[in-house]
Amino acid sequence: MQPMTHNNITSRETSHRKGILLAGGLGTRLAPLTQSVSKQLLPIYDKPLVFYPLSTLMLAGIKDVLVISTPDHIDQFKRLLGDGSDWNMHISYQVQAEPKGVAEALILAESWLDGAPSLLALGDNILHSTGLTGLLLDSVQPSQGATIFAFPVQDPSQFGVVDFDENGAAISLEEKPSNPRSEWAVTGLYVYDETASQKARSLSPSTRGELEITDLNKLYLSEKTLNVVRFPRGTTWLDTGTLDGLVTASEWVRATERQNGFKIACPEEIAWRNGWISREQLAAISLRYKNEYGAYLKRLSDSSKS
Ligand code: G1P
Repeated sequence: MQPMTHNNITSRETSHRKGILLAGGLGTRLAPLTQSVSKQLLPIYDKPLVFYPLSTLMLAGIKDVLVISTPDHIDQFKRLLGDGSDWNMHISYQVQAEPKGVAEALILAESWLDGAPSLLALGDNILHSTGLTGLLLDSVQPSQGATIFAFPVQDPSQFGVVDFDENGAAISLEEKPSNPRSEWAVTGLYVYDETASQKARSLSPSTRGELEITDLNKLYLSEKTLNVVRFPRGTTWLDTGTLDGLVTASEWVRATERQNGFKIACPEEIAWRNGWISREQLAAISLRYKNEYGAYLKRLSDSSKS
């Protein structure tokens, strides 16, 4: 199948896969910034952090999204994103009572998924590259098994780590190993078939008391249905879990947007380019912002799609 660019998705081609956006956690490493504000709502230059992983789901053609957050923060997300109808999406919400691990998201989402396959995005991961849309659209096509994405990093011990055999097939997965077997970190984006929730329910908590997403992926690995995509050169994957990570991400977005003249992770723009909203709807939304963000949306609505 031909990779599609995000300019030619039509409503008909929108994925039936559902998106899960996990924006929970206490953000303890970022306190006091996170004392009263969710970590995933902190600014990354000109947008809240959650816009970036939401955009990743949208670029994958996903219109139906479940946002999972803490009891304290869920209303903040509702105020920001609403029911998604502005972007012709459907956004639903689910509380995660305690931070019991990434894999718990699949259990919490089970009835909402209603048997659909999913794409799980962690709310603090920023991904960007020119070819990302085609890669995502290809990756969400298979209906069986799971697909995860790996990226080479200097300190893999902070992440899930995947190792490969000489033929490039994944042979092991470890969560935050003190002696990593490879430089390949597993990023916070996971494509799952409809068996993921049932598999997640079979997991036991790790020593840190969490249902580990790496343990879920290991089940797929042992079933030989785990596909690992290595992000190509030119991909940017930013971790925003630390103060330095937050500042670096903001600086990178600012520099890249100034250089390219396009915004990164602008949901209105993606909805328009995906054909989910019309030029007129985009122009109407632009009027809500009496600032540079609104001026950008107005410029887009006046332009031809490129
Ligand atoms: C989680 C996953 C880890 C993955 C990382 C990506 O870690 O457990 O495997 O590499 O996200 O951001 P956490 O952020 O929960 O420590």
